[in-house]
Amino acid sequence: DWTPDSFVEETVEKLQKQIGGDRVVLGLSGGVDSSVAAMLLHKAIGENLYCIFVNNGLLRKDEFTQVLKQYEGMGLNVKGVDASARFMDALAGESDPELKRKAIGRVFIEVFDDEAHDVKNVTWLAQGTIYPDVIESVSATGGPSATIKSHHNVGGLPDFMKLKIVEPLKALFKDEVRRVGKSMGMAAELLGRHPFPGPGLAIRILGDITAEKVAILQEVDAVFINNLKKWDLYDKVWQAGAILLPVNSVGVMGDERTYEKCVALRAVESTDGMTADWVNLPYEFLQATSNEIINKVKGVNRVVYDISSKPPATIEWE
Ligand code: XMP
Repeated sequence: DWTPDSFVEETVEKLQKQIGGDRVVLGLSGGVDSSVAAMLLHKAIGENLYCIFVNNGLLRKDEFTQVLKQYEGMGLNVKGVDASARFMDALAGESDPELKRKAIGRVFIEVFDDEAHDVKNVTWLAQGTIYPDVIESVSATGGPSATIKSHHNVGGLPDFMKLKIVEPLKALFKDEVRRVGKSMGMAAELLGRHPFPGPGLAIRILGDITAEKVAILQEVDAVFINNLKKWDLYDKVWQAGAILLPVNSVGVMGDERTYEKCVALRAVESTDGMTADWVNLPYEFLQATSNEIINKVKGVNRVVYDISSKPPATIEWE
């Protein structure tokens, strides 16, 4: 029978045979899949695994430094690359959701390729692809969602990177990946993280991206996520986040009418992201969170809660 321990033992042995003394490069995203893949490879080949963690400037507040620290604590050989400026340049003035995704995917590949070239004599590219990614990329061939997740997982590698691919989690479902991570001692905080899209906050800022909008959304999102944790709701939710809407709404401050930004909060229950229900968060929680956002985050004067299920709505707004 399948157990996480026997999977780890067999996979480590297989990876050692397959890779030998070669060098492997792997892109960490901060998510569970790439992190578990890195742990397995680290256990198998140690210092011959070179991890690259790219900051695209669209991560959650403080996430890049916090997650980088966690990776270092796990003993991984990881290089953090802050490429925020390159991503922001590529996104300037772009408001089409698919073109935003494409720009981010393109820059990610460029940055990753630059970094991979710095690892001398590397012959393998490791990916945290899991079984549902394989299925999805097959069924989505040619469709609009063919670009989804392509830059991190399936979709192969660009021609200019002539590396062999190793995907140790390719046969596993998400819950199995979590069990494998747990059996290898991965921190609960990392294991229990909500899924987060590769293009990050870029698809939660409707319309074009500016540094100011990213900063506002990071603050709003941080209040929401921290409160979910404080209220012991984080682990009961499959995915949560905030969306910056492209509308200004009227408010009052003293005798003045103001026109400021409106944000939506989204929290869903799901097992695989294919279908999802909005979460019935307690009114007291929503009340406290809304007040805190409006009091703390300059430029926001209205908070709404998204009560749409998937289908027909999607989890993300773009
Ligand atoms: P939707 O919005 O399609 O999202 O209901 C389903 C799941 O996929 C994530 N998602 C993405 N992940 N790149 C990603 O890596 C993307 O372009 C992308 N778009 C959506 C979304 O966060 C949810 O978990």
